[in-house]
Amino acid sequence: MIKYITETTNYLIEKGFDKPEIGIILGTGLGQLINEIDILHEVSYNHIPNFPTATVEFHKGKLIYGILEAKKVVIMQGRFHVYEGYSLLDVTFPVRIMEKLGIHTLLVSNAAGAINLNFKKGELMLIEDHINLQGSSPLAFKGVEHLGERFTDMSAPYDAEINAEFERIAHKNNITLHKGVYASVMGPQLETRAEYRMLKILGADAVGMSTVPEIIVANHLKIKAVAVSVLTDECDPNNLKPVEISEIITMAGKAEPNMITLFKELIKTL
Ligand code: HPA
Repeated sequence: MIKYITETTNYLIEKGFDKPEIGIILGTGLGQLINEIDILHEVSYNHIPNFPTATVEFHKGKLIYGILEAKKVVIMQGRFHVYEGYSLLDVTFPVRIMEKLGIHTLLVSNAAGAINLNFKKGELMLIEDHINLQGSSPLAFKGVEHLGERFTDMSAPYDAEINAEFERIAHKNNITLHKGVYASVMGPQLETRAEYRMLKILGADAVGMSTVPEIIVANHLKIKAVAVSVLTDECDPNNLKPVEISEIITMAGKAEPNMITLFKELIKTL
């Protein structure tokens, strides 16, 4: 693992990925942030040694290096999910690379379903804490102790100071920003009514299929991490309609300008 990380990191340094300060994972609902970046270098995932092999639908995935709000950033345009058949090690490998390149902070975005029915689709939720329901850990492998502490502390996985800054920015810009607990499931199937009831009982405010593995690895590496969800559907078990993925994507697009404002304004403060 250490050999692979070194090899991949050296490859990207040669490509000009010079000491980025901030890493950003663009999920559904933040893709347009890319238009705000002064792009200096970009590499397709397929060309990066040791990166997970991209699936057909994933050929667009790229790692981008550039300047955003005067900060050096490295951006994952597209992420890997367990539901595509990748292992949790694959899903989180890019986070280890971004950390080796030099990032001190990881910003993550995703699309999620609202379990808390006071939250409406099209609104945003700042993740304050999470529940890992993906059935495994990205730290469950031989040799993990050589990369960080095996028994990684998760008492405060999301950076409280950055979250407070997010709230100030949301308030200033009149953006509704809920706070809550994100549960990550494996997917790709959506949840049954019984599962939505269960998630509510467990204390989740939102549910999605990503983010938690990346946040766990960020904590393993002791870099600051935060994440924002765009709520794309309302998961009411007593009135559940079939979910249209196209509707989820439309909703994510609607919330995108707010998401972009939050991220851009935040980066100014980091
Ligand atoms: N469940 C799981 N993942 C999701 C959902 C959902 O309802 N909405 C968007 N991503």
